[in-house]
Amino acid sequence: MSNTAIKEQIQELKRTLNVSIVAHYYQKDDVFEMADFTGDSLQLAQWAAQDTKPYLIFCGVGFMGQSVKILAPEKRVLMPKIACCAMARMIDVGYFDATLQTLRDAGIAPEDLMPITYINSSAEVKARIGKMGGMVCTSSNAKAIITKGLESGKKILFVPDKCLGQNIAKEMGLVAKVVGLETDLKSADVLCYNGFCSVHQLFDVEDVHFFRAKYPGIKIVTHPECKPEVCDISDFVGSTAQMIAYINALPKDQSVAVGTEYNLVQRLRKEHTYVLSSTKPECPTMNETSLADLHETLLSIKNNTFANEIILPEETRKWAKVALERMFNL
Ligand code: 13P
Ligand code: SF4
Repeated sequence: MSNTAIKEQIQELKRTLNVSIVAHYYQKDDVFEMADFTGDSLQLAQWAAQDTKPYLIFCGVGFMGQSVKILAPEKRVLMPKIACCAMARMIDVGYFDATLQTLRDAGIAPEDLMPITYINSSAEVKARIGKMGGMVCTSSNAKAIITKGLESGKKILFVPDKCLGQNIAKEMGLVAKVVGLETDLKSADVLCYNGFCSVHQLFDVEDVHFFRAKYPGIKIVTHPECKPEVCDISDFVGSTAQMIAYINALPKDQSVAVGTEYNLVQRLRKEHTYVLSSTKPECPTMNETSLADLHETLLSIKNNTFANEIILPEETRKWAKVALERMFNL
């Protein structure tokens, strides 16, 4: 079947089924165009959790669909592909507990830690952190959540993205140390788990220098999952939604080099001819979802087979919700 025919069938199924479709900015264009709502991680979780339709199809990566199920358990959440974000896969409860042990060995007790997990983590990790009195953050609110966490008088244990932890710590004038990579952990305000996003690691200081030399006056815009040395010399650092807002507010002839996933960069290029990217930074897991998968998922609702439905153990969901709600309450 052609893409046009699949799109027509998707629209028809949407009309007859009581379902909403949401898509992250990194989704492929043809999937993205089918969504009722698009946004960054925080916006998608908020919108989908308050949506009144009983079925939700989430086009994104696994932790995003899980976040909606955690917040709105009565909803049937399906994902065309339950693709796991490679960074989220870098930590599980076992690794989290091993990190606590490393810190204990360095003389830092769990009671002296305020754990904060980036939303890019599994429901189990969020639950573990919720039980410990910790919180979730996203790239758009990490600074506010770390500020709140520091009010406890404890050190922040930030998982799993070391770059986001390091970038926010630097912005706030705090000392960050990566557990397992650095010594003198006791001197740190923010202890970062050694996880990272392989897509955002593709951007280097040399790329920034290259663009600045070749296009004088160019703006460099990056996501806070990029390395600290890259963010340090960027003109703007922000979540996907924040980068889009920044670029849309620039004059149309302003050249911009963007350090983030390629589907989003390509979409920006349709409006802003001067948007550039140094490589072809594709997120493999975000790109797993196809139009055909979305169509199949809708058919599974019609046929009552509910393909790729997100199901969570109640105990996990309950504690993960505690950690997520601490973020929303702020
Ligand atoms: P945003 O919260 O900025 O949408 O980021 C999600 C993500 O996975 C970035 O790589
Ligand atoms: Fe995960 Fe990186 Fe892909 Fe974002 S871009 S979903 S952090 S692997």
